[in-house]
Amino acid sequence: MSRLDPHSCFDATQPRTRRLRLRLSVDFQERRLTGTVVLELAEPASGTLDLDTKGLEIHSARGQSGGEIPFHLGDEEPILGRRLRLDLPPGTREIAIEYRTSPEAVALQWLAPEQTEGKRHPFLFSQCQAIHARTMVPVQDSPRVRVSYAAEITVPAPLVAVMSAGPAGERPGPKAGTRTFLFDMPQPIPPYLLALAVGDLESRDLSPRSRVFSEPATVERAAWEFAGIEEMILKAEGLFGPYEWDRYDMIVLPPAFPYGGMENPRMTFLTPTLLAGDRSLVDVVAHELAHSWTGNLVTNATIDHFWLNEGSTTYAERRIQEALHGEEAAVLGWALGQKALDQEMERFGPDSPLTRLRTDLKGIDPDDAFSSVPYEKGARLLALIERTAGRERFDRFLRDYIAIFRFTSITSEEWLAFLQEKLPGVAEQAQVRAWLYEPGIPANAPVFRSRALEELTTLAERWAQGARPAPQQIAAWKPREMLVYMQRLPREMAHADCRALDDLLGLTGRGNYEILVEWLVIAAGSDYEPVFGRLREVLTRVGRMKYLRPLYKALGGHPRTRALAHDIFAAASPGYHSLSRRVVESMIGKYTA
Ligand code: BES
Ligand code: ZN
Repeated sequence: MSRLDPHSCFDATQPRTRRLRLRLSVDFQERRLTGTVVLELAEPASGTLDLDTKGLEIHSARGQSGGEIPFHLGDEEPILGRRLRLDLPPGTREIAIEYRTSPEAVALQWLAPEQTEGKRHPFLFSQCQAIHARTMVPVQDSPRVRVSYAAEITVPAPLVAVMSAGPAGERPGPKAGTRTFLFDMPQPIPPYLLALAVGDLESRDLSPRSRVFSEPATVERAAWEFAGIEEMILKAEGLFGPYEWDRYDMIVLPPAFPYGGMENPRMTFLTPTLLAGDRSLVDVVAHELAHSWTGNLVTNATIDHFWLNEGSTTYAERRIQEALHGEEAAVLGWALGQKALDQEMERFGPDSPLTRLRTDLKGIDPDDAFSSVPYEKGARLLALIERTAGRERFDRFLRDYIAIFRFTSITSEEWLAFLQEKLPGVAEQAQVRAWLYEPGIPANAPVFRSRALEELTTLAERWAQGARPAPQQIAAWKPREMLVYMQRLPREMAHADCRALDDLLGLTGRGNYEILVEWLVIAAGSDYEPVFGRLREVLTRVGRMKYLRPLYKALGGHPRTRALAHDIFAAASPGYHSLSRRVVESMIGKYTA
């Protein structure tokens, strides 16, 4: 047996899946997907084939001519789920598996109508990264196994289905009151990029190759917020090469979505907290778009090389930002990232193996290891290489990297070998091995400076001495500048100062969630009662883990806010994604004791 991925029973000596054909029906009452997946093999095969499953009920397995294929489900393993072992008769070209998902499938979040904007229809969305595709489909759930796919998804008639695939038509469903949506994804993708959303959806065209989907109540706001998408795609193509996925569509999900964005190919999934009304949070879209090259074309071979996906994409995101808005804007992006990295280093400690870029997560749940380290340390490594080699050479390296490894899944070691080949001497000069294999942030980390950043930092650091920004200064700030300023303020303030800050910056009523949450973190940490109502509102409505984490953490500082946290969590948690619920439970569990 040859296991190359610690989080999958994919075995490189066994047959490989090349394409999936899904036929599923979406049952909102039972909270299940029921149907068939056909796995087409790369070549006719026989013998053992192991698939990953978690929570799936397997009803039957048949070969291309309808003959039964013997199968056996292994014991449940806590993180990995159950191995489905098939015993293929000679000449097996494809395997049809009839199955249904569990109502507890981690990949699937089923929303009641009250959790949507329109309040009339239920909603379903998937989130498969890193190892949850196996709760939706029995597959070789390792990013090393790339598959194309086709799908037929049957939903209740008023609802619309979208997938990480091209639309391929629509027809009346098999039962009255149902509709079937057809999809085709011709390019091979890792299984974690399988994605499905179903709801009361409308769309607006943004450019000939891009449109945004969302519930009717938010679609106009979404179209306005993301109107600049074509310009962004053009800039990205200039930097990284042609966009290879045909269309770039987006869907704005209900607020329970646990991430800011997810780079599902042809259909980026986004949190509605990006709809700030001023286009100030579109850097998340730049990030997900950049994954079209780094992540979706060139993919991490396993989660131990996750930095290749996220570090490269964070670097790429800031290059897009620079191309669109100039160097000063990109420096602010680096500064926001630095804060996240500093906090993470404090959380883990400088010697923690989780602060290595190349990790060893065997036996560890990828969701528990998730942090900003692969993003920000990874992006800094690439910026360091850029500075060492010079931008022109580095840009050529990046484009070559994408062109050579497109549609493959690679390791940190393969990346390093390519770097050494294309930019000889640079890896040694930049001490790339220490960056990859050692914990902490090396001393040669690049520093990002600008006048604006220095001024904001100085002003915030003098808060305790009574320094305050002047109203004209505040009026001239872009949202990011205000955010950088706020991140440098004390985490706990006297109530009079809380009030003064809120009055000065008009914080409690903000629609920009980055700023709002930063404020609520300060206010919660200060036990500042006037915002408790707003805190409850935000924590009840929004499921994005990036916001839940710091808010619940800040609430841990005082007896009264601890009680508030438990109270809010008890009421809000049934609406959270199971991942968010788990994260918050472990945080507030720590502060009951
Ligand atoms: N691919 C990630 C989200 C993800 C990572 C989901 C690992 C599950 C497991 C996505 O591209 C991402 O990084 N989203 C960020 C956006 C930000 C860094 C601009 C987010 O959700 O906050
Ligand atoms: Zn990402």
